[in-house]
Amino acid sequence: MKDSPIRQLLPNRAYTAVEWFRREQKELFARSWTFACMAEDLKEAGDYLCTEVAAHPIILLRDREGKLRAFHNVCRHRLSRLLEGRGTLTRAITCFYHGWSYDLTGALVAVPYERTRFDEVDKSCLGLVPVQIGEWKNLVFVNPDPKAESLEAWLDDLPTRCGPHRPERLVEVADVRYRHRANWKILIENFMDGYHLVPLHGRSIPDGDFSTMKFSSGGRHWSNYRGVKEGRVSGNDLFPMIEGVPGDFGANYHLLFPNLCVFETATTWMTFHAIPIAPGVTDAHVRIRTAPEALDRKTQAPVDESRPLPKAVVHAKGPYSGMRVNLPDLHPLESMSVMLEDIYACEAMQQGLESDVCGIGAMCDLEAPVAFFQQRVLDHLGTL
Ligand code: FES
Ligand SMILES: [Fe+2]
Repeated sequence: MKDSPIRQLLPNRAYTAVEWFRREQKELFARSWTFACMAEDLKEAGDYLCTEVAAHPIILLRDREGKLRAFHNVCRHRLSRLLEGRGTLTRAITCFYHGWSYDLTGALVAVPYERTRFDEVDKSCLGLVPVQIGEWKNLVFVNPDPKAESLEAWLDDLPTRCGPHRPERLVEVADVRYRHRANWKILIENFMDGYHLVPLHGRSIPDGDFSTMKFSSGGRHWSNYRGVKEGRVSGNDLFPMIEGVPGDFGANYHLLFPNLCVFETATTWMTFHAIPIAPGVTDAHVRIRTAPEALDRKTQAPVDESRPLPKAVVHAKGPYSGMRVNLPDLHPLESMSVMLEDIYACEAMQQGLESDVCGIGAMCDLEAPVAFFQQRVLDHLGTL
C-alpha cells in the first residue's frame, strides 16, 4: 500500500453530490466487474433474474445448454425494458409491449405481423445486446463494458488470499437486505477500517484478536486476516465448523473492488454487497452460508414475525436470518449487533459529511485500507 498515503483522498462531496454519484456510475460501475448474484440463483435452464448496473437494466439467465448469459434488458424494437424481477422462462423472452420474442441466446426469433406490416426487419441484426458475464467460485459478475478485461484478469491475485472455503458446497442460511442512509463508499470504507473494531465492536466481536490484523492487497482488491483469541472459534457458534477449514481459522475479510465484500470464518462464508441507490442511500445485501449440517440443527433462528424488524431491514429470508433481525429494541450502540453498530456509524458519518463543516482530520495506519480504496476509486475517475 506504499502508493496510498494514509490520509483522506476524497472530498466530502464525493459522498454527497449527485454529480459524483453519476460520474461513478459512468466511469466506475459501467466499466467494472460487479457482483450480480450467486450461480445457484440461476440453477435451471430458463431461470432468469433482473438487476441494474450503472443505470443499465440487465437480465441474467441460464440458457438451454446450461450456460450463464447476460443481456441488456432492453427490447430492440422500441427499447422497452423487457423483464422484471426473477423467474423461469419456459420458451422465449417475449416483450409485453408489441410481442417481439428472443430465444435464450438473445437472438430475435419472432416479430408479430412481420410479413404484413413491416417493409423489412433484419432479425439477425436485432438480437439482445450482450453483457459480459463471468463466474468465480459460485459468484456471478457482470461488466457492461464490451471492451473489459476478463474477470480472471480483473480479480488479479485475490483468489490466492482466500480461505479454503468452497461456497458451492455450503448452504445459504440467511439473506438480509439493510438500507443505509449513507453513501456506498462509506459502507466499503467501514468494512475495511481496522481502527474502529475495538472502540465500536469490542463487545460485539468478542472472539477477535485485533492485534493480529494483517492487510494485503493486489491490483484493486484488498484483504485483511485476523486471528481469534485463544480458545475461541471465529464466526457464529450457532453454526457447525466448515469441513476443510482449520478450527483456528480466524477471520478473513476481502474487498472485491468496487462493491463486494466477502467475509470468511471457521463456521461461515458471507457476502456483503453494497448496492448504491442514491448519493446518500445504499443497500447492503448480506448472504451467509455455512455447512449443510446447520439445516438439521434444532438451534435455527427463524425470523420472529411477531416482532418488528429493525428499521434498517428491507427483507430477511432464510432459516437463520432471525439471528440478524430478532434483536432487542435497544439503541444500536447497545444492541451487541455488529451490523446495527456499523449502520449507525455509517449514517452518523454521512450526516457529518453532508454538514460539510470541515474536512476529515487525520487517519492512522489501521485506516490505510480506506486510503487504498479511495485511491482505486480515483484511478477510475481520473482527476478530482
Ligand atoms: S418495445 Fe418491445 S416489442 Fe415493442
Ligand atoms: Fe464495523
